[in-house]
Amino acid sequence: MGDDQRRAYAAAFERSTTDPEAFWGDAARALRWFEAPRTVLDRSEAPFYRWFPDGRLNTCFEALDRHVEDGHGDQLALVHDSAMQGGNLRGGATPVVTRRSYRELRDEVALFAGALAKLGVTKGDRVIVYMPMVPEAVVAMLACARLGAIHSVVFGGFAAHELATRIDDAAPKLVIAASCGLEPTRKVAYKPLLDAALEEASHPVETCVILQRPELEATLVSGRDVLWGDALADVEPHPAVPVESTHPLYILYTSGTTGQPKGVVRDHGGHAVALRWSMDNVYGAHPGDVYWAASDVGWVVGHSYIVYGPLLHRCTTVMYEGKPVGTPDAGAFWRVLEDHRVNVFFTAPTAFRAIKRVDPEGSAVKDYDTSALRTLFLAGERCDPDTLAWSGRVLGVPVVDHWWQTETGWPIAANLVGLEAMPVKPGSATVPVPGWDLQVLDDEGLRQPADVIGNLVAKLPLPPGALLSLWNADARYVETYLTRFEGYYATSDAGYIDGDGYVHVMARTDDVINVAGHRLSTGALEEVIAAHPDVAECAVIGVQDKTKGQLPWGLLVLNAGCARGDDVVKEAISEVRAKIGPVAAFKHAVVVDKLPKTRSGKVLRGTLRKMADGMPWNMPATIEDESVLYDVEKVIRAL
Ligand code: COA
Ligand code: AMP
Repeated sequence: MGDDQRRAYAAAFERSTTDPEAFWGDAARALRWFEAPRTVLDRSEAPFYRWFPDGRLNTCFEALDRHVEDGHGDQLALVHDSAMQGGNLRGGATPVVTRRSYRELRDEVALFAGALAKLGVTKGDRVIVYMPMVPEAVVAMLACARLGAIHSVVFGGFAAHELATRIDDAAPKLVIAASCGLEPTRKVAYKPLLDAALEEASHPVETCVILQRPELEATLVSGRDVLWGDALADVEPHPAVPVESTHPLYILYTSGTTGQPKGVVRDHGGHAVALRWSMDNVYGAHPGDVYWAASDVGWVVGHSYIVYGPLLHRCTTVMYEGKPVGTPDAGAFWRVLEDHRVNVFFTAPTAFRAIKRVDPEGSAVKDYDTSALRTLFLAGERCDPDTLAWSGRVLGVPVVDHWWQTETGWPIAANLVGLEAMPVKPGSATVPVPGWDLQVLDDEGLRQPADVIGNLVAKLPLPPGALLSLWNADARYVETYLTRFEGYYATSDAGYIDGDGYVHVMARTDDVINVAGHRLSTGALEEVIAAHPDVAECAVIGVQDKTKGQLPWGLLVLNAGCARGDDVVKEAISEVRAKIGPVAAFKHAVVVDKLPKTRSGKVLRGTLRKMADGMPWNMPATIEDESVLYDVEKVIRAL
């Protein structure tokens, strides 16, 4: 490595913070704008910053048409690999693989955009996409982008009520869904969930486009539901509609501290510039590489690095319908790496922990040729040093733990292997990514010295690609993220920056928990449990779990005189599954006499968490009644 490259990170970071206009103005030149921006950053309505406000482009054009126009139409754009199809749900012995070149994907997207336009979808309309990991989900997202419509993908593991909440908030013109999802032990009928959600929602949806999967076909509602294939009949391909850089590309709902999810809004221009920059500099990916993010299109990782990032950078993206284990075995990931000659791989540490549990030595990897792989990226939760070391040993490649959030849309801290690879410190997400001016503040907002833990915050303005606001909730956006520390975005993560400038992310400071890389709000779970007629009050805490990182545990206080504790626990568990969805993995709950609280009435969640994790805890000075905490400790110990 030459001196210039060694200094590349420091120079990029410095320029991105001292002169963000110059830095991102240069990065924006990588895109083909319909109208190039003259202004890079509009600060006039701070804290609502806008990137490239007078530029016009279309993200779908940039992700597909541009590459075809440049002569790369025959290159593979999307490889879909399903370990779940092929008639053997449990074993998935013969994966079903489909491949689309850039030209084929462009044509399919243009035609589906024509179908959506014929159904009345135009620029600015919202479209909810409720689909499993099928290639049509990517087609649907890109077709919306092509029209300037705003997609909102809802993860398939969410139940009808969660879908209804999102329908009411986004007020979509149309919903696109599939008949079913495929899980290792069952087929998930999506359509009844969609029907129930539309029944519950107050916002009326006139049209649903349904993709029938042969594994489980759906019954259609006449006059409302249109089959995917029928929607395409007599349709003309639709060109990409030029939109303002600041025009919303998508809304992605994520958990906050209450049951009302937050709709993160991202734009066309800033998002495309940031993702394109990250593909080179963070991931070290080159056009023509094969990039695989083993996530789900329903999560931000799926949006950014299954769909948009790799396609904007002319990579081949791999979309995998399956699990790391059990489809059919602990070699599932290695098989995908070999079959598609994957160069860059991205997943969550929980997936590697699941493999390690079944195959502790990682011996299954010996049966596969994973030699095309250059780097493994892990994110979604704190990566424990064991998992980092194990995955590096098994795959024989550098492993990068990088930190980001649904809100940020791309990494906040990473080892930027494409710009300048740094020495790895296990337990650290390495250094702030250019554009992210990270600082550590105490609760009073005072800057903390190196190695002192505090609130991780990013100085405003945030770089392109970060959230613009929350859908229909500007005030909530300001209050949630920008008010606690003036001039900064509060990440709600606690951590420290060490003397070498490495970022160590330790824990959330709010009620958000991370279950198998899925973000959940304990407040949302509590709302469901508290609605049970026999429950007087409850608390849900995230407890450490070897595989999933955290699992939610419920403590239930019953109404006086209620003697059906065991039944109430079972009912609460099934109610959470029905209302939030199986992905909450809520399986542990107990009845307690009282919840331990402070004198001001706050449940002592932090202390409860320490107890449940078997860690030392101190009696809080503010406790209302010490005996309540000792009683709860006995119950927790008995679990
Ligand atoms: N549709 C319907 N149900 C779903 C679903 C979907 N898309 N995804 C998960 N579920 C269900 C599962 O079937 C399971 O149901 P069950 O209670 O009947 O068994 C439940 O939700 C919990 O799912 P999950 O947390 O995924 O547990 P798992 O045991 O099936 O798998 C892992 C565990 C670790 C293998 C898996 O979670 C994984 O691969 N995680 C990677 C995380 C990830 O992609 N994160 C995104 C950020 S990078
Ligand atoms: P999500 O919005 O689902 O991506 O979840 C974001 C949260 O996951 C962050 O706020 C962190 O708490 C956690 N997280 C993600 N990546 C990391 C990481 N590399 N290290 C520590 N925590 C992480």
